[in-house]
Amino acid sequence: MNIKEVISQMTLEEKAGMCSGLDFWHTKAVERLGVESVMVSDGPHGLRKQDQEVDHLGINDSIKAVCMPAGCATAASFDRALIGRMGESIGNSCQHEQLCVVLGPAVNIKRSPLCGRNFEYLSEDPYLAGEMAAAYINGVQSKNVGTSIKHFAANNQEHRRMSSSSNADERTLREIYFPAFETAVKKAQPWTVMCSYNRINGVYSSENPWLLTDVLRKEWGFKGYVMSDWGAVSDRVAGVAAGLDLEMPASGGINDKKIVEAVRAGELDEAVVDQAVERILTINEKYFANAKPDTPWDKEADHLLSAEIAGECMVLLKNNGVLPLHKEDKVAFIGEFASKPRFQGGGSSHINCFKTTSAVEAAEGLNVTYAQGYSVAKDEATDEMIAEAVAAAKAAKVAVVFAGLPDSYESEGYDRTHMAMPASQNALIEAVAAANPNTVVVLHNGSPVEMPWIDKVSAVLEAYLGGQAVGLATVRILFGDVNPSGHLAETFPVKLQDNPSYLYYGGEADEADYREGVFVGYRYYDKKDMNVLFPFGHGLSYTTFAYSNLRVSSKEITDQDTLTVTVTATNTGKAAGKTVVQLYIGDKESTVLRPVRELKGFEKVELQPGESKDVTFTLDKRAFAYWNTQLGDWHVETGEFTIEVGQSSRAIEVCDTVTVNSTVKLKKHYTKDSIFMDLMADPEAVQVIKPLLDHFKKVCGVGEQSSEAAAEAVTEDMGMAMMNYMPLRGVMSFADGSQDKEMMQDMLKALENL
Ligand code: BGC
Repeated sequence: MNIKEVISQMTLEEKAGMCSGLDFWHTKAVERLGVESVMVSDGPHGLRKQDQEVDHLGINDSIKAVCMPAGCATAASFDRALIGRMGESIGNSCQHEQLCVVLGPAVNIKRSPLCGRNFEYLSEDPYLAGEMAAAYINGVQSKNVGTSIKHFAANNQEHRRMSSSSNADERTLREIYFPAFETAVKKAQPWTVMCSYNRINGVYSSENPWLLTDVLRKEWGFKGYVMSDWGAVSDRVAGVAAGLDLEMPASGGINDKKIVEAVRAGELDEAVVDQAVERILTINEKYFANAKPDTPWDKEADHLLSAEIAGECMVLLKNNGVLPLHKEDKVAFIGEFASKPRFQGGGSSHINCFKTTSAVEAAEGLNVTYAQGYSVAKDEATDEMIAEAVAAAKAAKVAVVFAGLPDSYESEGYDRTHMAMPASQNALIEAVAAANPNTVVVLHNGSPVEMPWIDKVSAVLEAYLGGQAVGLATVRILFGDVNPSGHLAETFPVKLQDNPSYLYYGGEADEADYREGVFVGYRYYDKKDMNVLFPFGHGLSYTTFAYSNLRVSSKEITDQDTLTVTVTATNTGKAAGKTVVQLYIGDKESTVLRPVRELKGFEKVELQPGESKDVTFTLDKRAFAYWNTQLGDWHVETGEFTIEVGQSSRAIEVCDTVTVNSTVKLKKHYTKDSIFMDLMADPEAVQVIKPLLDHFKKVCGVGEQSSEAAAEAVTEDMGMAMMNYMPLRGVMSFADGSQDKEMMQDMLKALENL
């Protein structure tokens, strides 16, 4: 199809019509010109394709599909290739179901553990989220179907999600809330981007030209089309002008009409409408060019893939040696989640699974008993349930309590109000742990929980929302068929109040101020040197690893160079396993507030017992940079940086430093109000103010105190320290003669020109 030619033959009404959905899930067709409709569907961790009744909240049924582990779990795999394979299987199912675009990945940053949708999102860290998102997109799109990375941008709470304004400074947006999208666009070029419901600094994402055109297209080079989240459009005409190509779902013709009227009234350039249509049709054509409706979809194979992926995602948080279990041991599985696992979250990502495997089912043939422990539906653990659980625990060598958050506790559409697990489940864990010293807890939750019982249990396995085969993966890990290798993609704080956004999260009415700035997750906890329950990047294994021999390609580089960092990872234990080598960078001295360390590289490596492998990272300017608002660009300050490599953000094993020299000269902006401290820190400025300095010293007697008593009262150091905050104008006022005054004016001019 010659798209430009087709558009030239469309009426304005037809073109405006193309800019909104036909219905809930389809784009419009223009039959007389051979333009066909395509279908899009949720996403992200499987298909929610609705054939009958439609909704965007996961209320009505969809086709039978395969539920893979949710984003909270997949990010914890720290495994790009694995997530790529998951993407390929989803892409394949899209081909089978004739879907042009799957609505995902969902990559919003986990600002607070309270966000109801954290289970779908990837991480508190923008680098990790971006890398995993790109891997997913490349996987899906390798099957010639598209993705829709969402929700662009700063959609970090469900509370008032369609009206709230995420108010953040530009540096925070650029460093924390944008990079997952940016990396995905640059590394994987998603076919579409879905704009978020919320406003950013007062402007709806759906009508934000800076966001949708300047940043997304002009800066990052996005080539596909932007669609709205379902119902995110407020002012459609402003949206078209801003770069929102497709409104979803249908607008009932109302907004199409507004577009036509705006063009006729000369308020909207028709060329902008043409461009939106061209973008939509280009993607649709891309799909038709390689559509293969006869693609087979082997759901059983995907079920097994889902189990494999879940096994790579689960995080062993604690283990005193009780795990792995022995197959001959008598083990009590306790808690309703053992027979009915919670493996996915509520809302638009909710999948109608063709089958599920619980831990109880997966343990068939093993010496495993089961006790319900609590009722999920009633959110209670009766005395009888607890008594039965305690008896089962006493009769077994090891008790495994399956616990976590019931569906109602976290979902799309609303936020949590606390970080606690159900009291009934906490009580059950305490009772079982008192009855059996070998108590293991398996958790099913999409976001961190408080663990008041942590010191009383022997092991904790974070299984997250691990998809429909979660039971199989859990049993494989518990009994040692799979060695756990997931690492936390988020910090587990000790309590909710520790979270950096605690005071401001949710906002006041529709104003959600991101006052913690760039200090999100471990960036905050590390800066404050706070105790956390489990740090970002943490994850245990049934073997042990050590890192050694850190090598940097150079001790000094410029911001135009790349640096390679190599480290040797060794399996020092007795089992084969996978370690996640994490590389963090920190700016040792900076004039702006920066985190102690930031993740800038990771690699998952498989090692046999005793085996060593070298892992190499390549770092460029961006790894050292912060967003400089004056430049409107990334900037590296000249100075020393730490290079740390570890098994978590709090388990750094080897480190070194390198010096990076900036090639960018920042404009200095000195005025008569500049203070001495800043001038003295700048060798160029010191040269200029030297005569003034001498003059000041003389006038004030600094360093030449008149008497011993005066020298005692104000030492030279004290004098200089006091002078630190003195503005130039303060000294200028001491100038008496006109000669002095002239000298000072010249100096000021020289400073202003630096
Ligand atoms: C969600 C999106 C989803 C869309 C369609 C919205 O409520 O925010 O993530 O893709 O519905 O179901």
